Amino acid sequence: MDKLIVHGGHKLSGSINVSGAKNASLPILAASLLTKEDVILRRVPDVSDTNYMIQILSALGAEVERSSGTVRINAANIISEAPYELVRKMRASICVMGPLLARLGKAKVSLPGGCVIGDRPVDLHLKGLRAIGTEIDMEGGNMDMSAPTGLKGKEVDLRGKHGPTVLGTDNLMMAAVLAEGTTIIESAACEPEVVDLANFLISMGAKIEGAGTRRITIQGVSALHGTEHTIIPDRIEAGTYMVAGALAGNPDTGVTLHRVCEEHLQPTTDKLREAGHSVTFSNEGQSVTVKPGKSPVGCNIVTAPHPGFPTDMQAQFSALFAITPGLSIIEDTIFPQRFMHCAEMSRMGANMLVDQGKVVITGTESLSAAPVMASDLRASAALVLAALVADGATEINRLYHIDRGYEHIDEKLLQLGAKVERARE
Ligand code: EPZ
Repeated sequence: MDKLIVHGGHKLSGSINVSGAKNASLPILAASLLTKEDVILRRVPDVSDTNYMIQILSALGAEVERSSGTVRINAANIISEAPYELVRKMRASICVMGPLLARLGKAKVSLPGGCVIGDRPVDLHLKGLRAIGTEIDMEGGNMDMSAPTGLKGKEVDLRGKHGPTVLGTDNLMMAAVLAEGTTIIESAACEPEVVDLANFLISMGAKIEGAGTRRITIQGVSALHGTEHTIIPDRIEAGTYMVAGALAGNPDTGVTLHRVCEEHLQPTTDKLREAGHSVTFSNEGQSVTVKPGKSPVGCNIVTAPHPGFPTDMQAQFSALFAITPGLSIIEDTIFPQRFMHCAEMSRMGANMLVDQGKVVITGTESLSAAPVMASDLRASAALVLAALVADGATEINRLYHIDRGYEHIDEKLLQLGAKVERARE
């Protein structure tokens, strides 16, 4: 297994390109199953999660060719059973359920594994699919689904106890595009990645209105045609490097990110400015420069479904607040257990108290290097950020967690002047 050694104390400057969004790529790759014609996707990030999804599509019978960021898929001849072992490895693979039901009238997909950020139920996915006519049997860890009388549009409210569901909204939307009649999704997720999926489906001939709002209306059609689509920029990768700029950026030059979307970064931008850092967009909102503020202050964060503060950004901000003077409180209302990174950061000298879905952070003067363990994608990214400003060389083990969602993170950090190296554990 790989590890990343980060030598702290080097100021970052220069610029990098942000990759295509992992969390848009995964449902859109799955949605390519909805047509027999060719689909060309551009800016699909080369991360292990998208490579897993490509393996799943191939195992289902699709032809898939990747050349750098462009992926061509042809799903003319596919089967309905997803490979158990691959689905177990990545929760997002459950978003093949909707397309398989829509295309074939059946699907066999393993229950996804849990993960360190909390149990990951699928009850809302099943609620949505059942509402439009899906019968579901659980056997041997698989969800065996069929729609014997076809899929028929219905009005469904997908709100759960933690609010909307992103992939649950995606799954129902992908099933409904070929259903008979009209489906209305109430309490739909509004994330930009859901909108990107809807735009992709519309480019294939789907009839969808309201994506980006809490109410999405889908009018079923008989078939979808092929298309070409460029994936939106990854707002979480961009946000992660924006925090790096606030934490470790050269005060004069800062760090510049290209290929971003200003609108998608609003919650991160607002919070960095509230904490006293400089965030400036240019190039019609497609580039952003972040410089550390002269007198940064601690802040409070409560995560919420989009357009609120994203749960996928809270760990990164905890690294920033670890060395920001004053008190900061971060509450994750979506994944109340998503604080695995705090214990590891405390080993580096951070003053963090985790209690009932919140972390109370008291900023310290400095952090010091320690061997730390990555646990989930965003927690690992937060450890890298902390290591950038820690005294000494921090070893971050189990780097595969980061490689799931950050394309070439070591190369991008080197390009910004960080002193990092990837090594074998
Ligand atoms: C997506 O996961 C993202 N993953 C996650 O990003 C992100 O953290 C999450 O949305 C929330 O924004 C992808 O898009 C591939 P949810 P998803 O269904 O769709 C509960 C990352 O770091 N829930 O919106 O699986 C659930 O437990 C990853 O890139 C149910 O109760 O998340 C959670 O509390 C991590 N029943 C809340 O809803 C269900 O059937 C939101 O989960 C489904 C979800």
